[in-house]
Amino acid sequence: MKSTILKLILSVFIAFNFSCDSNHSDKEVFIDDLLSKMTLDEKIGQMNQYNGFWDATGPLPNAGYEKNRYDDLRNGMVGSMLNVIGVENVYALQKIAVEETRLGIPLIFGFDVIHGYKTISPIPLGESASWDIKAIEKSARVAAEEAAAAGLNWTFAPMVDIYRDARWGRVMEGAGEDTYLGSVIAAARVKGFQGSDLSDFSTIAACAKHFAAYGFPEAGRDYNTADINKYTLYNNVFPPFKAALDAGVKTFMNSFNTLNEIPATGSKFLQREILKGKWGFDGFVVSDWGSIGEMIPHGYAEDGNHAAELAINAGSDMDMESSLYVTELQSLVKEGKVEEILIDDAARRILGVKYDLGLFENPFKYCDKEREKNVIGSKENQLAALDMAKKSIVLLKNNNQLLPLKKKGQKITLIGHLANDNNSPLGNWRGAADSNTAVTVLEGLEAYGENSITYSKGVDLYYGETNFHSRVNLNHTDKTGFKEAKIAAKFADVVVMVLGEEGFQSGEGRSRTELGLPGLQQELLEEIYKVNKNIVLVLMNGRPLNLTWADKNIPTILETWHLGSQSGNAIAEVIYGNYNPSGKLTMSFPRNVGQSPIYYNYKKTGRPGASSAEVTTSTYADVENSPLYPFGYGLSYTNFDYSELKLSGDKMNRKNMISASINITNSGDFKGKEVVQMYIRDHSGSLARPVKELKGFELIELNPGETKEVVFQIDNSSLTYFTVNDKWESEIGKFSVYIGSNSDVQKNKSFNLTN
Ligand code: NOJ
Repeated sequence: MKSTILKLILSVFIAFNFSCDSNHSDKEVFIDDLLSKMTLDEKIGQMNQYNGFWDATGPLPNAGYEKNRYDDLRNGMVGSMLNVIGVENVYALQKIAVEETRLGIPLIFGFDVIHGYKTISPIPLGESASWDIKAIEKSARVAAEEAAAAGLNWTFAPMVDIYRDARWGRVMEGAGEDTYLGSVIAAARVKGFQGSDLSDFSTIAACAKHFAAYGFPEAGRDYNTADINKYTLYNNVFPPFKAALDAGVKTFMNSFNTLNEIPATGSKFLQREILKGKWGFDGFVVSDWGSIGEMIPHGYAEDGNHAAELAINAGSDMDMESSLYVTELQSLVKEGKVEEILIDDAARRILGVKYDLGLFENPFKYCDKEREKNVIGSKENQLAALDMAKKSIVLLKNNNQLLPLKKKGQKITLIGHLANDNNSPLGNWRGAADSNTAVTVLEGLEAYGENSITYSKGVDLYYGETNFHSRVNLNHTDKTGFKEAKIAAKFADVVVMVLGEEGFQSGEGRSRTELGLPGLQQELLEEIYKVNKNIVLVLMNGRPLNLTWADKNIPTILETWHLGSQSGNAIAEVIYGNYNPSGKLTMSFPRNVGQSPIYYNYKKTGRPGASSAEVTTSTYADVENSPLYPFGYGLSYTNFDYSELKLSGDKMNRKNMISASINITNSGDFKGKEVVQMYIRDHSGSLARPVKELKGFELIELNPGETKEVVFQIDNSSLTYFTVNDKWESEIGKFSVYIGSNSDVQKNKSFNLTN
């Protein structure tokens, strides 16, 4: 019987000549027809997502849950699974869905493919520092190809949350603090994952998350309350989500936090009014892991039944791991607390994405063992990861041009646990990467040069195995390795110290109240400095760190994040000058943790007085207001000189535009890339305006001695924001334009926007 119905459905489907290109009504007709055959329970089943039976990325129910879940699957009560990976596993579960359920509706398999599946590229914060949009898109494409080859159809990425507080561990997972750059990157990542044809077997559905304001947890503590005003929400938080939507993103994930007192998962405003209403999103919204049930501890839902009612009424279409839709929705509909039309709508959205993926056409299209073998971890993908890794590195300081190092004839002492750690560079959210597979800095330096390298660990940063589920066990006491490291450092020509965070020290649930180098690393750095000042500090970390001491004392500092599978090779290529670093920070680095949250596009107080000796100003008694390294900052082995900036006029109206141009000259000895950044300041508005905001950038490459003119067109859209009138509009008055190499640029020219 089951197979007859399946065949019937498939034949209807085939008759409609489906493909991604087929017109909208074919899809509608198919889904209408399918929905008309579904019972209420089966529709609710589509809205249920279970974790697989191997690994989990959140708290699981009590032991013994597996059996019920298999039963649910067979009864058509599961629409999606997460954390099921590999063709064999996906195939086995898909087979149950297709062959054993009454209607044979395929499952959609989701996984956190955040910066690679098996071949790991840099953490997203690192990738964003490349400002290389094509490379970022390509990186997502490679990740999608590998994930699709492993049977997956859907990634829970990109995370497009804007954030400003380095204490929050998930800063590693996004594109930094800026809305404009974050929006451009959000679109690129969506395009990379989804490609131009979602029904192709190498593309997967993307998911813009976490809607919304998850990046603003109070005090940087993960999952914490977000309390931000309407204008920050519209002007800073929403745009990357909208950009993802405009790029065609198929799904959204809501978030754990409450936003202005209402849990995002239960927020009608976010999901129904904005996303599905004003923005017209026609894909589906998945809850975050258990976030429907978490509305109970939030003090918002009375019990599971109430939580399910609130979530569906608010527009959460799929329940990730709360199991509350399957247990509660049926009775909620019967009692009239939830209208069946909402269930139809949610099921329709979910079926629509499955349709777009081509899963009805062939539920097993992602399950090709041959492809799995050939695509995953291929040489080509490793090369792409290397390319992305090099582009993500940021040179923070390079006194006396200590870098690049000569490839021969040098005595190098390499120090630090992380220098010989092949696990940490994979970072958190490392997909299906095999542990201990990253190239280490030690291996990279040996492979790319012919120097004599002495390695001394210096100190254990951490002990034992690390993983997604446990806290890193840091060493706070044992300094026995200091002695050997000091001896090794003393007579070296140069000391390369690799310090920072273990790969799982940032990411979900990894908030910190201190931003210093963890464990005993700061002390080790200071001890080594006593015997040899010629230090290249290579940082590996998932968030901005407090580098105030290092910046003052250490001549050369390289920010390398957690760079992924090819980490050591990329770092060696930069250290030896095969690749001239071109990355620029996408998050401000504070002078100390007390400055958090810190970001470049802040609003001035009425008493800014940063350089004033007057006490009653908005300044700290102990450090200056500015960050240690500002947003957009990063050096190169060469120098770029900026000419005076020119504006094509001093007036514009909303219908025409002004161009801002500048000449950049490579006045150093190396070929290099520069990210030319354009910021605009709106001098007065119906709301207090930020000191400046990024409105354009261009990545250029110049040979030594070469000059290039960069021109930015400024039109009304560059001046528009969500004003006090609750409208996206520009306001007449004075604006200033800044073009420079980072957000601290001061030189500017002004113009007026007139009616
Ligand atoms: C919780 C995280 O917040 C979310 O980003 C992730 O996609 C899910 N868990 C699934 O792993």
